Amino acid sequence: MLVSYELVDDIGVITVNNPPVNALSHGVREGLVTALATAQADSSKAIVLLCEGRTFIAGAEISEFGKPPQAPSLPEVNAAIEGASKPVIAALHGTALGGGFEVALSCHYRCAVSDAAVGLPEVKLGLLPGAGGTQRVPRLIGVEAALDMIASGKPVTAAKALKLGLIDRVVDAPLKAAALAYARELVAEGAMLRRVRDMKVSAEDASAEQFASWRTTLGKRMRGQQAPQRIVACVEAASRLPFDEGLAFERGQFVECTESEQSAALRHIFFAERQAPKVLGLDPASQPRPIQRVGIIGGGTMGGGIAMCFANAGIPVTLLELNQDGLDRGLALIGKNYGITVSKGKLSEQEAVRRERLIRGTTDYADLGEVDLVIEAVFESMEVKRQVFARLDEVCKPGAILATNTSYLDVNEIARVTDRPQDVVGLHFFSPANVMRLLEVVRADDTADDVLATAMAIGKRIGKVPVLARVCFGFIGNRMLRQYAREAQLCMIEGASPEQIDGALTGFGMAMGPLAVGDLAGLDIGYKARQALTDAQKGDPKSYCIADALVEMGRLGQKSGAGYYRYDPETRARSVDPEVLEVIEAQASKHGVSRRALSSDEILDRHLMALVNEGFRILEEGIAQRPGDIDVAYVHGYGFPAYQGGPMFYAAQRGLASVRDRLKALQRQTGAGYWEPAPLLERLVSQGQSLDDWMAEKH
Ligand code: 3HC
Ligand code: NAI
Repeated sequence: MLVSYELVDDIGVITVNNPPVNALSHGVREGLVTALATAQADSSKAIVLLCEGRTFIAGAEISEFGKPPQAPSLPEVNAAIEGASKPVIAALHGTALGGGFEVALSCHYRCAVSDAAVGLPEVKLGLLPGAGGTQRVPRLIGVEAALDMIASGKPVTAAKALKLGLIDRVVDAPLKAAALAYARELVAEGAMLRRVRDMKVSAEDASAEQFASWRTTLGKRMRGQQAPQRIVACVEAASRLPFDEGLAFERGQFVECTESEQSAALRHIFFAERQAPKVLGLDPASQPRPIQRVGIIGGGTMGGGIAMCFANAGIPVTLLELNQDGLDRGLALIGKNYGITVSKGKLSEQEAVRRERLIRGTTDYADLGEVDLVIEAVFESMEVKRQVFARLDEVCKPGAILATNTSYLDVNEIARVTDRPQDVVGLHFFSPANVMRLLEVVRADDTADDVLATAMAIGKRIGKVPVLARVCFGFIGNRMLRQYAREAQLCMIEGASPEQIDGALTGFGMAMGPLAVGDLAGLDIGYKARQALTDAQKGDPKSYCIADALVEMGRLGQKSGAGYYRYDPETRARSVDPEVLEVIEAQASKHGVSRRALSSDEILDRHLMALVNEGFRILEEGIAQRPGDIDVAYVHGYGFPAYQGGPMFYAAQRGLASVRDRLKALQRQTGAGYWEPAPLLERLVSQGQSLDDWMAEKH
């Protein structure tokens, strides 16, 4: 029974029970209408609507989007609730989100337990509230607060919802008893049927200028996305049109959103993020090991950020550095970063202090005897890492997990230094580690199943999106990045300017272009790495000649005030530098390349093709478990726009045959071996199969 009904004395109680999150599937919608009709017809004086399980309805059933609609639609359910002839009271716990909150808004009264939250997160799925949210919320709390809530998609706490006027009462648990008492109180008062549809939107902040200003702000903040602009249009409609017309307008906009490629992409990412931490073939009996205390080796850029991730989740950290100076520097940087968060108003001073105190510094390995997990983040040198792991093997207790944050090094070789390779795993964070959500969990040959289960669980606990990778040079993300970064270099020598290349990629929605990223990270890092390679490993000498020339001129990127661009020493504002064009032209003539005009389309296409082709190789080699894992890695670690769904989603949408043909054309045109289509791609195209078919066959 997805929806049940009972009469408790003179109050009708409708209960939804559709685990895990009580999503509004067709059955739930139908059940709500039936239960409501029963309640309408019996002797109840008021009706309480609540949910079993961990949460009130958390929204529409996302997997139903894109399929033929089945009646009753949610707006029909809501109209029935709002039109009821007895007061209907929503009783909220957990997260009343999206369509779930819209159901609550259609009730005449709303109460919630104090740890509940309400929100309209549809925008995160490339949608907008499609069952009255954009029409009812501005009627309750005004245009400004409504746009803030709907365009951000952020949930608000029960206390804030009460203050705003989204709910009427915060009650103590147990919820059912409290809701029944509230309903009786309303009945005793003879409370009216308060229908939000009959309220007026306050004209105060509903001017044309106000909406224009929201359009501009959201155009910048959520660049390239359609749903936020449609949200403004719907809220504007709420302020101008009668309720039913506004509702019809909203529905039209909503349906168009559900059919959009952006929403398909964002829904793909929603499910892919939830799939990614599931390790295929893992022994079902393997339970995560408890993690109560964490050790971190190295308090540099990454170690400090990683320490903050754990402290932010309330997990105590012991941070070990080489010497007191290094430790002081590392701890000071952590303090500075917390200070910045406080100054931005994102954290209270008191909370920052509490978190900082969870991080204890040491230079003595003996202090790591009791930690459950150690993450090494020392220099990227096999020799140094081998020394650290040998020492960890001596001091850490049996069963402690020993993890490395290496970007490229062989985790198997690191594991072999210890007598417990089953406890060794890669935990590859991304910079800045306290901000970026991707965590690559690198499975070495001997990593135990329960270590992987622990890595996935702890990753989620600290707010990351964990993705499993196998050992290879650069794992999933950085291995693909090398192909992408090389394409930027080649486009440059062939004729494009840095700003044209970056513009093509940011135009697609990338958070930053590849050359601006290079300047931010420092051009010397790649330069040093290339110095260590043999000529054969370096490949085509023209690939990195521009980058090398810039470094040799002292142009190291932002830190030296100049790289592919010039940077204002005060503001760090970026400007085009004619000197760079001279360098590019000199290198082109040195390598016998005659420069030509490249279109932005060609630039974008070549970068995407470079990512996609490597993605297919990574899949076939089993480095990544699923195409969706690669997409999640690119969205959360490399600034790939979620609304484009990730590189593999892009390939699937474009059509695998089209991708294969384009790669072949590039191969013919350039003669470069790396454009040869990956064998898996060739096979799928020749067999007329999709990536989904391949996944289904494999598992
Ligand atoms: N539809 C279908 N499945 C859903 C779902 C939904 N709305 N919300 C969650 N799920 C599934 C997840 O895929 C996951 O499945 P799995 O166990 O097979 O992996 C399971 O429920 C549990 O989800 P989480 O792992 O995310 O659980 P958490 O406890 O961490 O979070 C949550 C719970 C906060 C409710 C979170 O799942 C969430 O944010 N869900 C989406 C909410 C949302 O976007 N609602 C709006 C939908 S659009 C809409 O309502 C349109 C309307 O305006 C007409
Ligand atoms: P970093 O140079 O900023 O910090 C390294 C720290 O380790 C220094 O503070 C150093 O004093 C300390 N250290 C060196 N040897 C040590 C030892 N034997 N014992 C204790 N401490 C020691 O380097 P960064 O950037 O933090 O990188 C660390 C690791 O993280 C590397 O393996 C790197 O490849 C990886 N990584 C770096 C990313 C980045 O963007 N910087 C991203 C992801 C991974």
